This record gives sequence, C-alpha cells and structure tokens, in this order.
Amino acid sequence: MRNIVMLGVQGSGKGTQAEMLAEKFSVSTVSTGRLFRSRIEEGTELGREIAPYVERGDLVPKDIVCRVVADWMDAPSARKGFILDGFPRNVAQAEALTEMLAENGRTLSDVVYIRLSDEEAMRRLSGRRVCANRDCETKFHVDLHPSKRDPNRCDRCGSELVHRSDDRSEAISRRLAIYGSETKPLVEYYRERGLLREVDGEQSIAEVFKSIMEKFRE
Ligand code: AP5
Ligand code: MG
Ligand code: ZN
Repeated sequence: MRNIVMLGVQGSGKGTQAEMLAEKFSVSTVSTGRLFRSRIEEGTELGREIAPYVERGDLVPKDIVCRVVADWMDAPSARKGFILDGFPRNVAQAEALTEMLAENGRTLSDVVYIRLSDEEAMRRLSGRRVCANRDCETKFHVDLHPSKRDPNRCDRCGSELVHRSDDRSEAISRRLAIYGSETKPLVEYYRERGLLREVDGEQSIAEVFKSIMEKFRE
C-alpha cells in the first residue's frame, strides 16, 4: 500500500504532482493548506482561528494541524493508501504522523522530495493563479502555463482564477524562511530513514512526474 508524503519548498509543485500521483495510484490525497483555505472561506470556528496564521504565511499550531490530519486519515477513503501534501512540515509533525499511523498498524511507504531553488520558487508563486472553485483548485501560472481558453478562467471547470492571498511577496518571503528553518530538516530526517525519493523540480510538470515514477520503479 502506498502511504506517501510530498516534500518540497513552496512552489516546487507538491500539489500539482500529488494530484497526478493520486490518480495514477488510485489513492486519495489531501493538502492541509487547501483544507485550511476551505475552512477559512466557510467561516467556521476553526477557519476564524487559523485565518491569521495562513494569511501571514506562518505555520498553524501543531495541535490543530494534527487533529485535522488525523480526522482525514481515519476516513475509509484514506485507508486504501494516501498522499499527504503539506504535512508534515517539521520534525514535531513528522513524529506525530508516525504515532498516528502506528496506532492503526500503518507506516509511511515513500517521501517524494521535489528539489527547487528559492529563486524559482519565488517566480512560480508570484505568477501562480488558482481556480477559485475549492473542489477543483487547478493551478495555472501567468507565464509558465496560462489557462488556454481565457486567461482569467479555469480550463477545467470555467470558474474564476484568483491570486492566493499568501502569494504576495512579503508572505512568500516569510513562507520560504519558515521552510528553510522548519521543513528543510525533514529531507535529512527521511533520508536517514531510507524513505526519500528525490527528484529535480526544475523540469516541466510532465518531466517531474516522469522522474517521480522512475524513482518508484527503482
Ligand atoms: P499550502 O497550501 O500547503 O501552501 P505551500 O506550502 O505554501 O505550498 P504551495 O501550495 O505554495 O506549493 P506547491 O508545492 O503545492 O506548488 P504548486 O503545485 O501549487 O499551505 C498554505 C498555508 O497553510 C501555510 O502557509 C500554513 O499557514 C498552513 N499550513 C498548511 N499545512 C500546514 C502544516 N502542516 N502545519 C502548519 N501550517 C500549515 O505549484 C506552484 C506553481 O508553479 C503553480 O502555478 C504551478 O502551476 C507551477 N508549477 C508547478 N510545477 C511546475 C513545473 N514543473 N514547471 C513550471 N511550473 C510549475
Ligand atoms: Mg500546494
Ligand atoms: Zn477549476
């Protein structure tokens, strides 16, 4: 069974590749960031609590994140394998994940690490546009791969394309700094545990996907 974690700097294409992999392996995927954005939009109590963190680009407190992920992983759909995009983001979360899985006799099978420079990450995030429909959230880029039919509408579902509120330059810098101090250490953490499958993120979307699939065949 495939129980996968996606790792990589913001903009490396975790969300993009997670969706392609989920389809390939017929497993479900969750992006904690996307889940949080939905709660914020719905204006739930949880949404109101986490909104300031997400808008600033800060990490949401661990207890909240772990509760949300644990609930998601308890659902029958995640019992047949899963792909986590955006969790864990630091060693404390990684340890919480191991415990969560062990409670049900599960373990992680692979950690896909998409390597990307900060300069390229900045370029991808500042030009990113996402479909406003949360059930779709297809990602586009104003220069790298714009929407084909209408630059302001999603090719897949026709909804409006928006600029994520944390894709403003101050929030991007903050997110990249937090990635360097909190999340990057997970690369060595998972390498030491023999789970890391590292690919070069500075290729086209299709080429990155191909590299990941090659790593799975190794
Ligand atoms: P989240 O939504 O996870 O955002 P993020 O970590 O900032 O990551 P991104 O979604 O920006 O990057 P991505 O790697 O998915 O890139 P994408 O595929 O879109 O989290 C948002 C917030 O929620 C966090 O800041 C935090 O506040 C909170 N949060 C979430 N999880 C948390 C946790 N575990 N703990 C605490 N807080 C948490 O690609 C980027 C762009 O590049 C797109 O435009 C795409 O089309 C383009 N692109 C992708 N691949 C390529 C390619 N190969 N070539 C050219 N363009 C490409
Ligand atoms: Mg994402
Ligand atoms: Zn759409």
